[in-house]
Amino acid sequence: MRTVPELIACKRDGGALSAEEIQWLIRRYTDGTLPDYQMSALAMAVFFQGMSEEEMVALTLAMRDSGAVLDLGHVPGRKVDKHSTGGVGDKVSIALAPWVAACGVRVPMVSGRGLGHTGGTLDKLEAIPGFSVNTTTERFIELVATVGTGMIGQTKDVAPADKRLYALRDVTATVESVPLIVASILSKKLAEGIDALVLDVKVGRGAFMKDLDRARTLASALVRTAKGAGKDCVALLTHMDYPLGFTVGNALETAEAFAILHRRAPADLTECTVELAIEMLVLGHVARTRDEARAKLERALDDGSALATARRMVQEQGGDPRVVDDPSLLPATKTRTPIRARSAGFVHGIDALEVGLAGVALGAGRTRSEDSVDPAVGFVLAKTVGDAVALDEVVAWVHSDDEARALEAARRVGAAFSIASDKPATRPLVIERVE
Ligand code: URA
Repeated sequence: MRTVPELIACKRDGGALSAEEIQWLIRRYTDGTLPDYQMSALAMAVFFQGMSEEEMVALTLAMRDSGAVLDLGHVPGRKVDKHSTGGVGDKVSIALAPWVAACGVRVPMVSGRGLGHTGGTLDKLEAIPGFSVNTTTERFIELVATVGTGMIGQTKDVAPADKRLYALRDVTATVESVPLIVASILSKKLAEGIDALVLDVKVGRGAFMKDLDRARTLASALVRTAKGAGKDCVALLTHMDYPLGFTVGNALETAEAFAILHRRAPADLTECTVELAIEMLVLGHVARTRDEARAKLERALDDGSALATARRMVQEQGGDPRVVDDPSLLPATKTRTPIRARSAGFVHGIDALEVGLAGVALGAGRTRSEDSVDPAVGFVLAKTVGDAVALDEVVAWVHSDDEARALEAARRVGAAFSIASDKPATRPLVIERVE
C-alpha cells in the first residue's frame, strides 16, 4: 500500500487511486487516524484533477460504509427515493412521497434541513403540529413497510465520513468539486437501502448549480456513479430561476404541497412533482411506460389513495392528519404585508436567490445549522413569470408579524421581480433527462 503522501501526490499529478486505497483513506479519516491536513490536501487535489467513474463509485461506497446502512431487503417491493439538489419553494417531496407510495413503490425518504437560501423538507414537515422527523431505524423501516413511506432526518450514524468531509470542504474551498459532491449526496442516499434513485438537479439563479453545463456535468456524474454502485438512476435537470409554486416559507410550503394532491397547486409545481413521480414509478417497476405511470398517478388522485397515504404518513409520525385537508391548522402569522408592482407589463423573472435570502432574513431559513426557524413566516406570490401586472397591483404578500422585517422583506422581494412590456416566452420546466 502506498503511503498517504504518495496517494496525495498521485492524485495531485492526475493519477488514479484504487478502490482499496480509497476505502483505506476513508476508513482512516472516519476513525481519526488520517488528519484533516492530509484530507484537505487530497480534497484540493481531487478538486483540480477530478476522479474517474471507478474512483467516484469507490469513494461513494467507502463513505456510505463509514456508517449504518439500512437493510430493507425484507420489505416487499422496490424502494425508490428522490433527491433534489435544492431550490427555493421546492416542497415537492412532501406530496411526492405519499403519492408514489400510494401507487405501490416504497419510498424511504431521508431529508435535510434548510441551509443558506434553500429550504429543507424537515423544516417544512415540522411546521405540522406534532410531526416528528426523529425516529428509530426500526420504526422507520416499519413506516416504509406499512404506510409505504417514512420521512425522517439523517441520524448521526449515517455516512459519518461525509459529515466530517463536508465540514472540511466548507473551510478549504473544495465544496464545488463534482466528485466530492457526488460521493456526498450518493453516500447518504445509498445508506437508505434503496434500489433506485431519481434526481432533480436544479439549474439557475436559485440553484446550487447556476449554469446548465455544470448542472449537466453533475447530473451525469451522479447517474453514472449511482449505476456503477448497482442502483437504477435517472436525473431530471429542472429550471430554478424563480421560486417553484407560489409559496416560500415552511408552513406555507407544506400547505401548498398537500394542495398538489387536491389538484389545487400551481402548474409548475404540479409538473415538477408529476415528472419526478413518473420516473419513480417506472424505476419502481409498477409502470412499464411513462403513460402507464401517468395514468396510475391520476388514479391515485381520483380514488383518494394519495391523500389517504399522506394523512396516514402524517398521523403515523405524530402529526395532525387534518392538515392534509385543512391548511388553516398550520401555524400562520396574523399580519400580511402587500408587495406592489413598480411598473406595468409582464413578469419576466423573480430572482429565486434574492427571494430565498429574503426568506432567511425573515426567519423562514437559517444561516447556521444551529439556528431555529419560524414555521409561519414567508411569502405568497400573487403573480408569477408570464403574468400581466398593472402598476401598483399586488404581486406578492409577506407573512410576518414583525413590521420592520416585513417591510425589509417586501422591499427585497419587490426588487426581485423584473417586469417588462412584452410577454415572455413560456418554457417547459424540465430542461433535459439524464440516464
Ligand atoms: N449536498 C450534499 O449533500 N453534499 C454536497 O456536497 C453538496 C450538496
